[in-house]
Amino acid sequence: MTRFPLGRPARIAVLASGRGSNLEALLRSFPPGDELGEIRLVLSNRASAPALAKARAAGVDAVHVPYPDRATFEDRALALLDGADIDLVCLAGFMRILSPGFVRHFRGRVLNVHPSLLPAFRGLHAQRQAIEAGVRESGCTVHLVDEGVDTGRILVQRRVEVLPDDDEESLAQRIRVQEHEAFPEAVRLVLAGRIDATGTEVEA
Ligand code: GRF
Repeated sequence: MTRFPLGRPARIAVLASGRGSNLEALLRSFPPGDELGEIRLVLSNRASAPALAKARAAGVDAVHVPYPDRATFEDRALALLDGADIDLVCLAGFMRILSPGFVRHFRGRVLNVHPSLLPAFRGLHAQRQAIEAGVRESGCTVHLVDEGVDTGRILVQRRVEVLPDDDEESLAQRIRVQEHEAFPEAVRLVLAGRIDATGTEVEA
């Protein structure tokens, strides 16, 4: 079983379906030579995802893995991840739900960023859900991925105000700024061995 800290830079993979701004934040935070981790592989279920182009521009291996169905995608993705000896998987705007088998394979080693203060507003359109609920505050959560949807152990949360004239996009943009800080922070917590595989915080 993989236990952090590894005593060497962890090999990090990022799965992304779209824009890739969180990927960019992770690339900035884990440049080549970082003691804790390096981004070694980026996978996307969408061939046209800007995230793939951003990874390649940064000199990181980036592969389109087609998603005709979950099993086909995961077989290929797992082969690529294991082939690259990946220690930690970051879901950065990856818009598909992973199977329990995939989660078990990487137990305690898959992180996701979600645009709400979990456990509020799980699932799709979290920003729209927040606006429709009339809450005054929302934010982002980075959590360990378990077999549920947006249910795993919470690692880092950042709050933002919901403004009276916010629409889904303006709120999403404000939340995204916080995600770019929260995600690398959570990755460092895990890689430094501050969170064990069950998601329990380790005494300092
Ligand atoms: C983020 O808002 C994240 O919370 C959600 O998908 C979005 C991805 O944005 N899961 P980007 O592709 O990282 O720019």
